[in-house]
Amino acid sequence: MIVGVLSEAVPGETRVAATPATVAQLLALGYSVVVEAGAGVASGFVDVSYVEAGATLGSASTGDLVFGVNTPSAEQLDGLREGTTLVCLIAPALNPDLLTDLARRRITALAMDAVPRISRAQSLDVLSSMANIAGYRAVIEAANVFGRFFTGQITAAGKVPPAKVLVAGVGVAGLAAIGTAGGMGAIVYATDPRPEVADQVSSLGGEYLAVAAPDVEVSATGYAKEMSDDYNARAAALYAARVPEVDIVITTALIPGRPAPRLITAAMVATMKSGSVIVDMAAANGGNVEGTVAGQVVTTANGVTIIGYTDLAGRLAAQASQLYGTNLVNLMKLVTPGKDGAFVLDWDDVVQRGITVAHDGEVSWPPPAVQVSAAPAAVAAPPVIKAPAKIVSPARRMTRVGIVAALLLVLVAAAPAALRGHLTVFALAIVIGYYVIGSVHHALHTPLMSVTNAISGIIVVGALLQIGHGDTVITTLSGVAVLLASINVFGGFAVTRRMLSMFSRS
Ligand code: NAI
Repeated sequence: MIVGVLSEAVPGETRVAATPATVAQLLALGYSVVVEAGAGVASGFVDVSYVEAGATLGSASTGDLVFGVNTPSAEQLDGLREGTTLVCLIAPALNPDLLTDLARRRITALAMDAVPRISRAQSLDVLSSMANIAGYRAVIEAANVFGRFFTGQITAAGKVPPAKVLVAGVGVAGLAAIGTAGGMGAIVYATDPRPEVADQVSSLGGEYLAVAAPDVEVSATGYAKEMSDDYNARAAALYAARVPEVDIVITTALIPGRPAPRLITAAMVATMKSGSVIVDMAAANGGNVEGTVAGQVVTTANGVTIIGYTDLAGRLAAQASQLYGTNLVNLMKLVTPGKDGAFVLDWDDVVQRGITVAHDGEVSWPPPAVQVSAAPAAVAAPPVIKAPAKIVSPARRMTRVGIVAALLLVLVAAAPAALRGHLTVFALAIVIGYYVIGSVHHALHTPLMSVTNAISGIIVVGALLQIGHGDTVITTLSGVAVLLASINVFGGFAVTRRMLSMFSRS
């Protein structure tokens, strides 16, 4: 089959849906690739580099599959044949008429911005790859306008304090912004209604600012819900207190399918220092900041610059095209099971079903709900927040401990005198082990595994000493002990090796 790569029709779009590197990957999957002349020029990929990679130059409409970044113009759509598969950004929730039009044209449309946020689909998640670039670029744009260093310095000419950055919304873009600003030496604060991001903020060197409202809870979907008036009032108080002291504010707050929540009012902006910079990443969606103009840079009367660019990812065009193109290649790997250039859409696969918004003359949006879990379902909330804890009550726990203790006591009482000492040690070991290991933080489970490896080693030695005892029961028990403890030892080493290999450069 042939993949056609469109030259983008949207004015100002710098990205392209395939780069010479991704063309080579598509060819390896068995496809032929036709690229429209000049399609990659704005990203820095000249036509000849596509030809060298194995593509031919021509009209994308000759393709069985047509790749684009944005939805094609009406003119480009008119050029597509019935039965063509179009792969691009479609924003299906916002464009019902477009979906009807695509279905009427009997075009199968795969919306790259509708990839469900499940682990398996991460490699095709265009929104994440673009937001990651945009979060980075937001900091670069802010730094470009900000008239000072980000990092603190002590120089012969005087002391330079580090810049303070506040990031509102800790999704993909927010995390990229925190990492970038922190890497440039700024002091970074961040807030988000999902308390589970607190660990992610601190792992990037930022400080998480919690909003202590009753409706703050761990999200099971990875997305925030619409917050209550109480939450919004408390968050507003937090912003009002913080924005006068920070130098840069980067807002990325988003609730899918809703207009951007308004976080920073004009009155708050008026309290900021002259020379401060705001980058409102939600500008295209209504803006998180009062006074943002989509696509523009505005300077307020008190000297605050508000950047409302809506093309942040496209401002790193080559990188964005490469990641977008790689997302498409990963999609093609999924739909080309035979690696033979034959596109096979599996309707039972939630990822493929989720992105297919028009098929066989029918609109197929919205897809059936997918249980997404970008976040673990039950993570301990930071201390200031009332956790919606699903924790076993102390009374219940004490009852369980009491039952186990009573059973052990009965066992010790019923045991032959020679065994009692061992059983008592065993019972105490269970109690101590329960409290010690039960309190170990998840992040420390790997070092804990090393300790259990050492204990398993002792078990192996003990069992080997007993194995030649002569009594069949003892020999069998020793054999079982050696087997189980060895599984723990070798399994532990195997897991550790796999984890270490994730950090190896090769
Ligand atoms: P995301 O869904 O991963 O993150 C959004 C975050 O906002 C979530 O962590 C959510 O919990 C948080 N949030 C929701 N309501 C909030 C509230 N009231 N206060 C504080 N935080 C709140 O989204 P992603 O991919 O990080 O994108 C972020 C924004 O950046 C979106 O608006 C997206 O459209 C925009 N974007 C802008 C680009 C540009 O060129 N300007 C390019 C790419 C993305």
